[in-house]
Amino acid sequence: MKNYDVDLIRRDFPILERKIYRHPLVYLDNTATSQTPQCVVDSIVNSYTTTKANVHRGVHTLSQEATELMEASRKRVRDFINASSPEEIIFTRGTTESLNLVASSFGGQRLEKGDELILTEMEHHANIVPWQLLRDRTDFEIKVVPIKADGSLDMDVFKSLFTDRTRIVSVAHASNVLGTVNPIAEIIAESHRHGVPVVVDGAQAVPHMKVDVRSIDADFYAFSAHKMYGPSGIGVLYGRKELLESMPPYQGGGEMIASVSFERTTFAELPYKFEAGTPDFVGLAALHSAIDYLDRTGIDAIAEHEHELLQYTTARLVDEIPEIEIYGTTPGKCAIISFNIKGAHHYDVGMLLDKLGIAVRTGHHCAQPLMHALGVEGTVRASFAAYNTKAEADAFVDGLKRVVSMLV
Ligand SMILES: Cc1ncc(COP(=O)(O)O)c(C=O)c1O
Repeated sequence: MKNYDVDLIRRDFPILERKIYRHPLVYLDNTATSQTPQCVVDSIVNSYTTTKANVHRGVHTLSQEATELMEASRKRVRDFINASSPEEIIFTRGTTESLNLVASSFGGQRLEKGDELILTEMEHHANIVPWQLLRDRTDFEIKVVPIKADGSLDMDVFKSLFTDRTRIVSVAHASNVLGTVNPIAEIIAESHRHGVPVVVDGAQAVPHMKVDVRSIDADFYAFSAHKMYGPSGIGVLYGRKELLESMPPYQGGGEMIASVSFERTTFAELPYKFEAGTPDFVGLAALHSAIDYLDRTGIDAIAEHEHELLQYTTARLVDEIPEIEIYGTTPGKCAIISFNIKGAHHYDVGMLLDKLGIAVRTGHHCAQPLMHALGVEGTVRASFAAYNTKAEADAFVDGLKRVVSMLV
């Protein structure tokens, strides 16, 4: 791509200078977590060295400054995903906590014995287990949309699953294994046609594409900062205001109350009703820097760069490694390549690649039902981000060829 200066971008990420077993680090585990640019690290250092104070509690200057930084971050997230108001932005510890919040509070209110919830076969455990915990208490039915051979959702089956007992649809925007980008606006429109609200797990979409929660008409949308060049331990739950207002709190404690007595507690307004305890205000201020970084670099430019790397790497893998099987081949998928080498175990492939400085993920990727559907125990997964280069793609393919020659 013409104006995309990947060398300049790499300079923002000091960790990329590291050597692993004397090889330059080739970091291809971006789906698990992306690396962090210096501006985000600087924000964290700045908070600890200049403005550390507990938020929403003090009249003193530091507390007010820390509160302003956190609330500015909330507004930044609102703009970033085009929510209607900052009250619709709930800060959590990550996608997992966001989804647990929705399942427990919204699901707990809405799903009764005999009701139905629709999930898909490609969900991360974070969008399966919270619902199962609730089902074990309530006894509703979980229906599952299967995937087709190319890794896309079977939309005909999806449409056929609705009954008058369907209460919620919860679905990944993009798969962390297959890279598939689901037709989320269509899924939501179809669900709304049946009067059913939709929870979207956006963990793998937000770092790689412009997400507009209003244009897709999502009811809830969850994502994690650490996968989008931000700090760890920070997540977001977007929720439609009228739904959030109707839901009971998720956790109890400080910050989320209006008044407390032993007889009765009343709860704070949105968004604080869902933010019990001291938040990670340092990380939340740093999320602001991460979004600024994404916007400055340009999410469309990043997506195009990643897509070029995906095409280039996939073509080389298919041409040069006959033993490879790649899972997920839908057009427009995220830059994630999950694969196995016939005759080799995924752990061995990953361990030997590491010896060459190449970081990939191996295993079930917290998607065991999907592994069952694919008929495998696990896969190797290489995934690209803004700072990866064509030279790294070559190092990966050449390294993998060496590994295959050793194992097969
Ligand atoms: C699709 C998807 N959903 C949910 C999660 C959970 O995210 P976190 O561990 O940040 O809560 C992940 C993490 O890999 C993911 O890829």
